Amino acid sequence: MENFVYEYPTKVYFGKGAARQHLSNILSAYGSNVLLAYGGGSIKKNGVYDEIAGILKESGKTVTEFTGIMSNPTWEKVREGAKLARENKIDLVLAVGGGSVIDCCKIICAQAVTDEDLWEVEMVRHGIPTGKPIPLGAVVTASGTGAEMNGGAVITNEAVKIKGGMYAAAPRFAILDPDYTMTLPRMQVLSGAFDTLSHAMETYFGRSDRDNVSDEVALAVMRSTVVNMRTLLRDINDYTARSNLMWTSAMAENGILKVGRLTDFECHQIEHQLGAYTDCNHGQGLAVIHPAYYRHLYKSAVPKFAKFARTVWGISEVDDEKAAQAGIQTLAGFIQECSLPTKLLQLRSKTEITPELLRQVADSTNLLPNGYKLFTHDEIYEILMECI
Ligand code: NZQ
Ligand code: ZN
Repeated sequence: MENFVYEYPTKVYFGKGAARQHLSNILSAYGSNVLLAYGGGSIKKNGVYDEIAGILKESGKTVTEFTGIMSNPTWEKVREGAKLARENKIDLVLAVGGGSVIDCCKIICAQAVTDEDLWEVEMVRHGIPTGKPIPLGAVVTASGTGAEMNGGAVITNEAVKIKGGMYAAAPRFAILDPDYTMTLPRMQVLSGAFDTLSHAMETYFGRSDRDNVSDEVALAVMRSTVVNMRTLLRDINDYTARSNLMWTSAMAENGILKVGRLTDFECHQIEHQLGAYTDCNHGQGLAVIHPAYYRHLYKSAVPKFAKFARTVWGISEVDDEKAAQAGIQTLAGFIQECSLPTKLLQLRSKTEITPELLRQVADSTNLLPNGYKLFTHDEIYEILMECI
């Protein structure tokens, strides 16, 4: 294992009725001014808003609402939220939604306490914010990203066309009630779950060959994600499968799989830049890019891919190279089985996806050093062109 320091900052309340059971007690530890932040309004339709707003009222909190956080949240939206949080002397930000709402709120919490522009600090100067952020709590309504249990936030700066990861404090607490996710559209359920699979795969395919318990945990998370996604293909409302996926989502991005090892995440870098240039859905973008990306990667990590093929997909081929290829093919078949997009043109982006646009996506993609292979911008362009 590589050396590591591991500390767990987020307290998780999991299960049916978790907000009703715990939220008022949790709130008593924070000041009276709460920023209640959410997205485009799904929580108003499914009763989650009524329940959470009711608990805030009963707890005597003064609530300021911050609404309209979009998928792939923008830097402008962060600035708007930070201004509101500052003007209203917010003591706690409560993010109610999926990865987009939670990520936006993470940076709002950090930006509200400083006069410095955090995009400039983090993304231009590669510094770390110094202020003490406003505490954040998350109520998850869409699982997949694992955003509720980590300190990263993915923000799109439309002016410079960069969708990048910013540093933030992880939520102090997270409420994970699978019932809150039951109204998610089928495609979002599956693309969210595929995002979870992607996180576990990207971590596992980091350059790390020593025997490592984190690899074994990652493989178990992948297997469980696939099994539960298959259950949902038969019955999208299966509560047990939804609960398992809510927890594998958190497990795949709460740092536990990364302990003692290097991680890859190049496929995420490519998809994030695709997101900077288009409005594509994160999990669906990953579904399109992953098989092509792995076809370019596997020769640099044949034994690792062979183990993935045998453990996750049950492939019995004894030759490592053939097993590795079969694993990638089975992954591609699974994506089709889930009716997830397999081509970029199926992403229904409002911006037309052309070779010129893909060149810009490739050229602006962050190249990470910890995969089995260091990709070039030209190879990323080739991968994207295979997906068109
Ligand atoms: O905005 P509303 O009306 O709430 O609708 C949302 C949105 O349209 C809807 N939704 C959420 N909960 C619902 C619901 N609809 C019905 N019933 C519910 N219970 O779902 C849509 C998608 O929501 P969004 O939050 O955008 O999806 P997701 O959770 O997939 O988050 C995607 C964002 O997270 C980032 C992605 O890049 C993307 O920006 N990621 C964050 C990560 C992290 N912080 O660790 C890691 C990931 O790799 C990822 O990059
Ligand atoms: Zn992801």
